[in-house]
Amino acid sequence: MYIPDNVYSNNDLARYMDTSDEWIQERTGIKERHFASRTGETTTTMAVEAAKIAIERAGISPQDIDFIVFATLSPDYYFPGCGVLLQRAMKMKEIGALDVRNQCSGFIYALSVADQFIKTGMYKNILVIGSEKHSFGLDFSTRGRNVSVIFGDGAGAVVLQPTEQENQGILSTHLHSDGESAEILAMFNPGTHANHWTPTKLADFNDAEIGDMFMSDKMVEKAQNFPNMDGPAVFKKAVVKFPEVIMEALAANGLEPKDIDMLIPHQANLRISQYVQQKLGLRDDQVHNNIQQYGNTTAASVPIALCEAWQQGKIKEGDLVCLAAFGSGFTWASALLKW
Ligand SMILES: CC(C)(COP(=O)(O)OP(=O)(O)OC[C@H]1O[C@@H](n2cnc3c(N)ncnc32)[C@H](O)[C@@H]1OP(=O)(O)O)[C@@H](O)C(=O)NCCC(=O)NCCS
Repeated sequence: MYIPDNVYSNNDLARYMDTSDEWIQERTGIKERHFASRTGETTTTMAVEAAKIAIERAGISPQDIDFIVFATLSPDYYFPGCGVLLQRAMKMKEIGALDVRNQCSGFIYALSVADQFIKTGMYKNILVIGSEKHSFGLDFSTRGRNVSVIFGDGAGAVVLQPTEQENQGILSTHLHSDGESAEILAMFNPGTHANHWTPTKLADFNDAEIGDMFMSDKMVEKAQNFPNMDGPAVFKKAVVKFPEVIMEALAANGLEPKDIDMLIPHQANLRISQYVQQKLGLRDDQVHNNIQQYGNTTAASVPIALCEAWQQGKIKEGDLVCLAAFGSGFTWASALLKW
């Protein structure tokens, strides 16, 4: 994992918007988050730092990596994706680089893709990454406070390799989506939607006959370039889908919640994690939460929490680890691992 140095407490954010430490902690559990250096770090450079550690711990070199799967919603460029920027920065061979756009579920989606490539024997060393630089794209005025207090920056990476051992590694992955609620948590612009999908206008495009559609001065003036979220609607759906997709993973492997040694839930909101824990009847030592220190780092949250739990000795060989996530799309996913 790589966490940028700059720490912003809730009180620091209160310098920019009408909010309070009490409000943020009570609703989300977040105490502070880290923000990347504004011009010195990008989503890809943070990913490179995490990837270096993962590759070193796997006992290989960047040239041994034969495929990259990179999950992010805050890419360095609109296109090309971060995968190729990382391939270039790490001087890797001319390998495939796939970018995944599944927001908070991004890392588990990415892991699932890598898992299939490993299981078919296609690749031997896959770098799977989740990285986000949210701090560059949020509205830190009072207008955007329901979104901007939640998110933080960081990166997490794993190297996935084949094993000959039965009943070890990734046992199964489970992916879902429901586009019915796509606009509930979304950043609409820049985009090609042309106000097609909703009765309400999502963007004030220029009135051009051709081209000139992605961005207009008016869109920036009206803050249409920031993410939108109906927080309570996200919360309601998350507390249903999180337990559902965890139970699905357990059932697929003939297991029960009590068999989980460590649940790594996507760090959306501490209240959501606590609800899931209670619903599954898990003890505190069976769940790892760190949103208090990092905020919601979207695609990076699961690998950061996984890495931290492992570094703290909370995950040991042979443990049953469950990864689960829910987010924008909506998409949700789980993975069951025998460590
Ligand atoms: C975002 C979230 C913390 C908001 O908490 P909530 O209790 O649902 O709050 P609401 O959005 O209903 O807003 C309640 C009030 O607090 C205000 N408010 C919103 N953000 C605030 C902030 N940062 N500081 C202070 N007040 C704030 C609202 O304006 C509203 O005021 P009003 O009652 O005068 O209109 C909560 O809904 C949540 O965590 N949802 C899930 C979001 C999530 O997980 N997103 C990531 C997806 S993976």
